[in-house]
Amino acid sequence: MNKGKFISLEGGEGSGKSSAIACIESWLQEQGIAYLMTREPGGTPLAEEIRDLVLKPRQETVSDMTELLMMYAARAQHLSEKIIPALQQGLWVISDRFIDSSYVYQGIARGGQISTLDQLTQWVVGDHQPDSTLLLDVSVEVGMQRVGLRQGADRLDQESIGFHEKVRQGFLDRAKAEPERIKVINAELAIEQVHEQIVEQLHQLNQAWVKGV
Ligand SMILES: Nc1ncnc2c1ncn2[C@@H]1O[C@H](COP(=O)(O)OP(=O)(O)OP(=O)(O)O)[C@@H](O)[C@H]1O
Ligand SMILES: [Mg+2]
Repeated sequence: MNKGKFISLEGGEGSGKSSAIACIESWLQEQGIAYLMTREPGGTPLAEEIRDLVLKPRQETVSDMTELLMMYAARAQHLSEKIIPALQQGLWVISDRFIDSSYVYQGIARGGQISTLDQLTQWVVGDHQPDSTLLLDVSVEVGMQRVGLRQGADRLDQESIGFHEKVRQGFLDRAKAEPERIKVINAELAIEQVHEQIVEQLHQLNQAWVKGV
């Protein structure tokens, strides 16, 4: 049996990741592909508890290193207990955010050291990088408008516009550096057109997967 495909979805707040998950899920069902949907930070009960700790608004300042280590602690648990076993069983694993969000949020946007991220990534993720990453790209203005439609903002939603600009550019720079893995989806279009682009990428991945590439 082929090992499953590991796909991550990335993008800023309001870029449409949750909507994309619904699209991917119905495509996988149509194709009869066994899959696992998950998200980061989180994905297992312990990792979800860490997610709540990271996102909870609080008086105390959360140091950048603390946030980074919590994210990677959650990721270690998520990989060993959920992602790796599912891939070994031949399932496709779809994660709402993964490694690129760490580089962009904790590294580029907050000015963390990329070398520290590289070391942690090597240690925690090793060879288990996503096979493919779909980057939903949207202007900060549109992303914020979309998020504004939703109730309740968490700690990361309250960051400044400048922060979100850095996030967007950070993702695009990573896509430029790794064009084979990271595919940029124009997420500013109507939902149907965004979903068409996603399905096109999924078809290509599936063709390669069936051939065992
Ligand atoms: N292409 C689109 N056009 C218009 N509205 C959209 C589009 N995609 C998503 N939306 C709407 O924008 C809002 C935010 O989308 P969604 O929750 O999917 O974003 P997200 O990337 O998952 O955000 P977060 O990072 O906060 O999880 C939702 O109300 C959704 O219905
Ligand atoms: Mg979402």
